[in-house]
Amino acid sequence: MCRLCWVIVVVLSLATSGLLYKFVFSGSVVAGDDGRQAIQLSAGERDIVFLEMRTFLDSVQKITKGIVDKDMKLIADAANKVGSAAQQQMPGTLVGKLPLEFKKLGFDTHSKFSQLAMDAESLGDEQHALKQVSDLMENCVACHETYKIEVSLK
Ligand code: HEC
Repeated sequence: MCRLCWVIVVVLSLATSGLLYKFVFSGSVVAGDDGRQAIQLSAGERDIVFLEMRTFLDSVQKITKGIVDKDMKLIADAANKVGSAAQQQMPGTLVGKLPLEFKKLGFDTHSKFSQLAMDAESLGDEQHALKQVSDLMENCVACHETYKIEVSLK
């Protein structure tokens, strides 16, 4: 085969793996000034992530209220609102900018809310729900310790 063809094949493969690496693993991240990793998003993308975050917070508040009031339906409904099934489809460009570890923590958090909702319905044990919300909030803490979001114009 022609040498030029091989060169082109190699260059294209390198470019593809580079893009794949960037898109799937590393995301669009720089070192932040406070020791965290700063994910670079557009203002609109940041708004999508923040809206999801405020929904998380709202659900956590309602779950704790449900636990205090022994209201299993409130607990299950609030948890389902942020469960895996309710997870918003994010634009591909945004997904590509999020590091793999961030995505894993995000998915895991949604699935833990789903489990909490299922258990609330089937077991009706608010102490179990309290333990689950305490456990899953370790994800909130871990992610916030590691990442922040910066709006970049790119
Ligand atoms: C996968 C990572 C991740 C997880 C998990 C996560 N967050 Fe966040 N959250 C972030 C990042 C990053 C920010 C932006 C922080 C910054 O820029 O300083 C944020 C911001 C927020 C904000 C501010 C939103 C706003 O409008 O200003 C709230 C509230 C919040 N998170 C709540 C939560 C709660 C509650 C949980 C757990 C149930 C949670 N988050 C789980 C990554 C995460």
